[in-house]
Amino acid sequence: MLNANLPSGPYGGDTIDEIATALETSGYLVLPSVFSEDVLQSIFIHFKSLDEERFRTAGIGREDVYHVNQFVRTDEIFWLDRTIPAVNAYFDWIEELRLGLNRRLFLGLFDYECHYAYYPTGAFYKKHLDAFKGEASRVVTTVLYLNPNWLPQDSGELLLYNMEGDLPIERIEPQFGKMVIFLSEDFPHEVLPVNKPRYSIAGWYRVNTSSTLAVDPPQ
Ligand code: OGA
Ligand code: MN
Repeated sequence: MLNANLPSGPYGGDTIDEIATALETSGYLVLPSVFSEDVLQSIFIHFKSLDEERFRTAGIGREDVYHVNQFVRTDEIFWLDRTIPAVNAYFDWIEELRLGLNRRLFLGLFDYECHYAYYPTGAFYKKHLDAFKGEASRVVTTVLYLNPNWLPQDSGELLLYNMEGDLPIERIEPQFGKMVIFLSEDFPHEVLPVNKPRYSIAGWYRVNTSSTLAVDPPQ
């Protein structure tokens, strides 16, 4: 796993090289700090300023098969886009990474969707995949954590599995500024129940599955 101190921040080419190499070799990586403190703070302040009513209980599946299933996940989400100034620097870096990954790995990543995820105390997300082979749409998952002073007793770790085993290959504490990136089709994962509110941005790079008959819905 590439968990080491990486040489440069958002716009350094080296970080993107490291990410591409990790995705190509192990399929995932954990970056301890990609964004500057300023960028993270502006996102976090915006996140916390939103009223809880603006979040909705997260569902499972895409638009046509969307349903809320409290047995699988109990987080609450708020979709993000470029109209929100607080997340612009985040989107800039995401775009830089999209182009970098396409250049290096020929992934054909077409767009990116992301939301804030708020896990109230007790919330969880059971073991799942973000995408299924053959239904390629979500190709690369990103999760950025926004939890200052996260302690082991706060739980809420992300457990990452491979397709073969029942034992996690990685346990990731959701500490402020940490980012996890993995191939969406290859790693089942779960979020353990949290002992205090947990904040993150979950996002997905997608390939274009539009046809003239059905335009791929954006969220
Ligand atoms: C998801 C997800 C993981 C996390 O939103 O699909 O698996 O650590 N999130 O928040
Ligand atoms: Mn997931």
